[in-house]
Amino acid sequence: MAYSLKDKHVLIVGGSSDIAAALATDLLREGARVTLAGRDIEKTAIAAKAIGDAVRPVALDLSDEGSIQAAADQVRAVGALDHLISVATERANGPVVSLERRALLAAFDAKVLGPILLAKHFAPMIVDEGSLLFFSGLGAWRPSPGGVAMAATNGSVSALASALAVELAPIRVNAISPGVITTSAWNTAVPDKHELFQRVAASAPARRVGEPSDVSAAARALLTNPFITGEILHVDGGARWA
Ligand SMILES: NC(=O)c1ccc[n+]([C@@H]2O[C@H](COP(=O)([O-])OP(=O)(O)OC[C@H]3O[C@@H](n4cnc5c(N)ncnc54)[C@H](OP(=O)(O)O)[C@@H]3O)[C@@H](O)[C@H]2O)c1
Repeated sequence: MAYSLKDKHVLIVGGSSDIAAALATDLLREGARVTLAGRDIEKTAIAAKAIGDAVRPVALDLSDEGSIQAAADQVRAVGALDHLISVATERANGPVVSLERRALLAAFDAKVLGPILLAKHFAPMIVDEGSLLFFSGLGAWRPSPGGVAMAATNGSVSALASALAVELAPIRVNAISPGVITTSAWNTAVPDKHELFQRVAASAPARRVGEPSDVSAAARALLTNPFITGEILHVDGGARWA
């Protein structure tokens, strides 16, 4: 019988992101129970309420193992967990000669160290049919000047997914690598997001940029396919080949 997300408990870390919101909304529609985690509990509670009254907010800071452990204790108290997803990112862009160690650590906490600690504290409560899903990004596969840190963090996510898949089996572990997706993160990341979107759309084989719904569809495919593990799924409209 096909695997259904109905009644499955899914935890999404990075709860204030548009991709988390799209995914949580779609998961609720499919009957899943969703817990949203974020480092600012008030912001996370507002994001959870905007998605639906049934979404539980939990405080979790990926740069703080005590906070990860406390969140795991809270989640464990309400029962087993089926899937854990982390969409979190901290950007550390700029020429390598100007990169600050503090920004590098924050970027690695969000994408690499934090996810390893998520696996440490949450994997013991994830059911055998469950999975972990992490987020990489196009910057690892199409590096550009000023993107050294993001290439390193996003590239590490791919290695992490395959290594954890081997170690945590039968729990599955996968990663998604989005291309340019129209999230609010772009409002401040570049001077003119519309110019960027047009330029990327003109060269990508899909001839458009991505929407959070494209990423949500890919994420739900990975959560529900029991024969995919240790994989990185590129949701970039073919931009790696442009
Ligand atoms: N949007 C794109 O075009 C694109 C392209 C390639 C890859 N991706 C990847 O897709 C994912 C989602 O992208 P997005 O644009 O929706 O991201 P976003 O809007 O920048 O959201 C990032 C999220 O990470 C959270 N976060 C950062 N550090 C954290 C920490 N230490 N502990 C807990 N949470 C932390 C942020 O929380 P706060 O609200 O507290 O800051 C925020 O909720 C990211 O992994 C990103 O790298 C996106």
